[in-house]
Amino acid sequence: MNRTFVMCKPDAVERGLVGEIVSRLEQKGLRLVAAELRDVDKGLAEEHYAEHADKPFFGELVTFLTRSPVFAMVVEGPADNTFSLIRMLVGATKVDDALPGTIRGDLATITTENLVHASDGHGSAAREIALWFPAFA
Ligand code: PPS
Repeated sequence: MNRTFVMCKPDAVERGLVGEIVSRLEQKGLRLVAAELRDVDKGLAEEHYAEHADKPFFGELVTFLTRSPVFAMVVEGPADNTFSLIRMLVGATKVDDALPGTIRGDLATITTENLVHASDGHGSAAREIALWFPAFA
């Protein structure tokens, strides 16, 4: 699958970093197929993070995602590695591990506010596109 799901989380929208983040994806050679500024309700947040329901920080994740709008996107690349290219651009989950040059390495200071969500495989990309942009599934 050449398409994947990417989201600027509430902290990114609040900090005015959507343009910077989209720009990094576009400069890489990736293309927006769909995008929308979206208010997220509790049900959508819980469904999005369903695989983490048993994690101690699940409640924190849901509260975070629902606190203010997100910028949700379907992003397309020329080959079936779109999700992995984007994960490289985004950087490691834990900000202490996120290298300079990555979005998190350059722009985030704490793991709970790590700016971007990006699907981590073909399966999650298909599931998340279907959840957020059913018309593109
Ligand atoms: S795990 O435990 O390895 O499965 O977690 P991981 O896949 O790395 O992360 C799952 C999502 O939870 C976010 N995360 C956290 N949020 C709050 N507190 C802590 N400690 C924390 N650790 C990870 C992480 O950013 C993932 O969210 P997304 O939106 O996928 O980036």
